[in-house]
Amino acid sequence: MVRGSDLEILKEKLAATQAITVLTGAGISADSGVPTFRGADGLWRNYRAEDLATPEAFAHDPRLVWEWYNWRRELIATKHPNPAHHAVFELERRCRQFWLITQNVDGLHRAAGSRKLSEIHGNIWMVRCTACGSVEENRDVPLVILPTCRRCQGLLRPHIVWFGESLAEEDLRRSYRALQSSDLCLIIGTSGVVYPAAGFATVAKEAGAFVAEINLEPTQQSDRVDLSLQGRAKDIVPLLL
Ligand code: OAD
Repeated sequence: MVRGSDLEILKEKLAATQAITVLTGAGISADSGVPTFRGADGLWRNYRAEDLATPEAFAHDPRLVWEWYNWRRELIATKHPNPAHHAVFELERRCRQFWLITQNVDGLHRAAGSRKLSEIHGNIWMVRCTACGSVEENRDVPLVILPTCRRCQGLLRPHIVWFGESLAEEDLRRSYRALQSSDLCLIIGTSGVVYPAAGFATVAKEAGAFVAEINLEPTQQSDRVDLSLQGRAKDIVPLLL
């Protein structure tokens, strides 16, 4: 339930700011029909993301990991940006200083038009060669399992940051710069349990930003933010414009 007064406070903050950072997680794409990671529909053959999205899982059984990504690619290929993705792009268009940090790999923010963004966990439509390191777009659905590199025949892997791997330095640098120089930070649809993104609310707050969370339910970071709005991203985010 969103309190009208909370919504008004956030709208006033938005109207008064020119420097916004938005952080999104799987919840913003849930309204497009993409399963979240920690929700009941996020399991595939009873595996959790933490069982499959690791370099160890890929080394042990690349076929299994690719089958999971194939399932996710097939599913995401049929999905479209929802009003929350469109509203985030509208914020980008309206604000002088804007940056979007997304943990989502589904590419729906780009599909909505967002360009000022860091996809800090990568993108499901990009693949990387485990032998020569080359990165390229691959939109094949379904993808041949096991996929190999066109240049060197090495095994391809998803160009995604897995558990236990480091985020790209440029993405981290860009994200911290945005968080530390914004007046307002909006956190949409993330459980706030996976670092470093789980620490971004604190980074923004310590730099003096007003931090607001939009989520279906209270999260681990609800008590660390200035305002928490509960409800569906697709209903709430467009109301901010
Ligand atoms: P989670 O699945 O952990 O959390 C999704 C959050 O969205 C939850 O807090 C839900 O309450 C909320 N939610 C669900 N539906 C919503 C809706 N319609 N509107 C608003 N909120 C909604 O997903 P993330 O926080 O994104 O990493 O997970 C972080 C990372 O862990 C992911 O990027 C992924 C995962 O393992 C990798 O793949 C590397």
